[in-house]
Amino acid sequence: MAELRVNPLQRLWLREIGIEKTWLRGAPDSAPAPARDVQARPAVTAQAPPAARSAPEAPRPSRPEPRPASKPEPAPTVAEASAPASAGIEVARRVAGFDLAQLQQEVLACTACGLCQGRKHAVFGDGARPARWLVVGEAPGEQEDRRGLPFVGRSGQLLDAMLASVGMSRERDVFIANVIKCRPPGNRNPKPEEIAACSPYLMRQIALLEPERILVLGRFAAQTLLGTDATIGSLRGRRHVLKTEAGREIPVVVSYHPAYLLRSPSEKARAWQDLQLALRAA
Ligand code: URA
Repeated sequence: MAELRVNPLQRLWLREIGIEKTWLRGAPDSAPAPARDVQARPAVTAQAPPAARSAPEAPRPSRPEPRPASKPEPAPTVAEASAPASAGIEVARRVAGFDLAQLQQEVLACTACGLCQGRKHAVFGDGARPARWLVVGEAPGEQEDRRGLPFVGRSGQLLDAMLASVGMSRERDVFIANVIKCRPPGNRNPKPEEIAACSPYLMRQIALLEPERILVLGRFAAQTLLGTDATIGSLRGRRHVLKTEAGREIPVVVSYHPAYLLRSPSEKARAWQDLQLALRAA
């Protein structure tokens, strides 16, 4: 493994997130797959596969299975990716001309699906504007619902540490949002109609923020954004592409959800490789 240069602050963070040793050893099985373009199918159709949430309470396999990459297809535009069925069409139409402030107001008052009934706060997203990176998670958990901010629990602390390890911060460089803006009761998996109703908000956020990179965390967010049912093992380690309405291609890198990393700390070395890939994915 090629030697990586880190400054003392980054080294501190690497130690903090528990991967310094693995990283220094060069963890033989953690070498990244060569970056290559994989263009994804349109996301969020009526057939979009419901995917398991990676909230800490949810049981999940101890290790995602690698699977061969699916055949490359043309990159979806943000408009295509935001063409959901039913309620989502109405949402997508309404927000098409919105700026970020209007979009935020819309999300905070949204009643497009049943999740609004159980929420304390809708979570629009938070972070730098303009943002170099957009980090996309799944859905708010209990603490996020209570505070109206994304990734503020234990997963969020780990996410902040991971970002800091590559010199990024949510205050300065990164905007953080979720696919689903309201907490599903008991952190259950979002239903297809909830994904359809909510995903146009994320697509509009992407179109407005035009980040240099998108880092997608966890199987659910990756499958939704990339419109695939491929496993996370097969999606990570390479560069995907999402096309904006303006025709800009935004590199997308998939990594593990921090909640999964809290349960499986040995995978942090792979997550570190994903962050490295995101840094250089152009
Ligand atoms: N998990 C997520 O996916 N998003 C959050 O905002 C918090 C936990």
